[in-house]
Amino acid sequence: MNSVNWLIRMLLIFFLSYFSFSADTITLDHSIQDNTDQVIVSAGNIFALGFFSPGSSTNRYVGIWYYQIPVKTVVWVANRDNPINDTSGILRIDARGNLALFQGNQTLPVWSTNISIAGAGSTFAQIQDSGNLVLIQRNNGNAVLWQSFGYPTNTWLSYMKVGFNLRTGLNQSYTSWKSPDDPGVGNISFTMNSGVSPQLVLYKGSIPVWRSGTWTGKMWSGLPEMAQNFLINVSFVDTDDELSFSCDWKDASLIARYVTNETGVTQRILWNNASQSWIISNSVPNDQCDFYGHCGTNGYCNPYLGISSDQAAENDQLSSSSQTAGKGQELRKSTRERGSTCFN
Ligand SMILES: *[C@@H]1O[C@H](CO)[C@@H](O)[C@H](O)[C@H]1NC(C)=O
Ligand SMILES: *[C@@H]1O[C@H](CO)[C@@H](O)[C@H](O)[C@H]1NC(C)=O
Ligand SMILES: *[C@@H]1O[C@H](CO)[C@@H](O)[C@H](O)[C@H]1NC(C)=O
Ligand SMILES: *[C@@H]1O[C@H](CO)[C@@H](O)[C@H](O)[C@H]1NC(C)=O
Ligand SMILES: *[C@@H]1O[C@H](CO)[C@@H](O)[C@H](O)[C@H]1NC(C)=O
Ligand SMILES: *[C@@H]1O[C@H](CO)[C@@H](O)[C@H](O)[C@H]1NC(C)=O
Ligand SMILES: *[C@@H]1O[C@H](CO)[C@@H](O)[C@H](O)[C@H]1NC(C)=O
Ligand SMILES: *[C@@H]1O[C@H](CO)[C@@H](O)[C@H](O)[C@H]1NC(C)=O
Repeated sequence: MNSVNWLIRMLLIFFLSYFSFSADTITLDHSIQDNTDQVIVSAGNIFALGFFSPGSSTNRYVGIWYYQIPVKTVVWVANRDNPINDTSGILRIDARGNLALFQGNQTLPVWSTNISIAGAGSTFAQIQDSGNLVLIQRNNGNAVLWQSFGYPTNTWLSYMKVGFNLRTGLNQSYTSWKSPDDPGVGNISFTMNSGVSPQLVLYKGSIPVWRSGTWTGKMWSGLPEMAQNFLINVSFVDTDDELSFSCDWKDASLIARYVTNETGVTQRILWNNASQSWIISNSVPNDQCDFYGHCGTNGYCNPYLGISSDQAAENDQLSSSSQTAGKGQELRKSTRERGSTCFN
């Protein structure tokens, strides 16, 4: 065989193996291993899924984080209460077609999507630009069999729900990490109360520390400012099958997340590209709106939005120009201490 033939053969083998999976999926033939730092990345390079250690811990977890944000920010954790104590972890499609995480060559997984699947061998997992990890069955019209959005950890992203799937009994609630070093289920939770008049409730253990009030058809009664909502699309579903609330940003370029933090608050956190840092734009409870007279006698306080559309424009300006970190500091200061939550 001459060298040109050899080269063509090698190239062919390379391309065949390269195109047999795409970089955002885990298939029967393509798993990811911790010891080689493998990750999968969503099609638009928004989110990555791989192994990580939180804070100062050396334990290994499978998680999802923002791919392009330099401060590693984990939005979902698979094995949050079952860490792996070395780097032998491997995440693969198992014989039943589930996505499963194994320590080394052990036969029992430390975590699994754990659903019953008819027709094994035809499933694959995919990380999507929304941050959702989905298990898809190819020979079943690409049906989504399982999704990480159904099993939230501490972070509420656009299009994720808080509430209940009443058919399956799935309880989509947000629970804090135990600490920055331990993503295990902590004792702060953000959940939908499923009573006669559903509302959002933040619990410290079993003690409610904040309530949204009931749904009026447009907004939560405890958050009347939602009526002035120019920034967020909201969706409240109350049917026989589902009771849920979700929202998404009209400006899809905003990078925003809500986090139920182990300190006992749920915070809305926005990425400021100019300062390359996260900014807490509001939080419940203990929002500045809780302080009597915060906005003066003629002003009202907007704990829901936290930023007005003017502020959003300012944010946009900040993120699209090459401002210094100082401006970001100022924005944070004015957002937190005074201004944009007050309207006249
Ligand atoms: C690591 O985990 C494995 C499996 O759970 C266990 O057998 C082993 O003792 C652990 N090693 C250390 C150093 O804790
Ligand atoms: C798994 O088993 C194979 C073959 O038995 C071995 O070569 C490999 O080192 C093992 N991997 C781990 C992480 O134990
Ligand atoms: C899978 O589900 C079964 C039944 O609910 C449970 O007993 C088992 O522990 C689960 N396995 C994993 C790896 O989560
Ligand atoms: C849903 O889960 C949350 C968090 O674990 C919990 O506080 C709440 O009681 C659950 N709700 C129901 C109806 O089971
Ligand atoms: C929450 O957990 C922390 C530490 O795990 C504990 O100190 C605290 O008492 C708990 N709080 C409640 C309300 O259960
Ligand atoms: C938000 O709602 C508006 C108007 O209902 C709609 O045009 C837009 O597509 C929605 N945006 C997203 C991101 O869903
Ligand atoms: C919770 O908030 C504290 C203080 O702002 C922060 O240091 C910590 O990293 C947050 N925890 C998580 C899991 O983001
Ligand atoms: C974000 O900031 C970086 C530099 O800090 C810049 O290169 C990039 O173009 C900015 N992106 C956007 C969307 O403004």
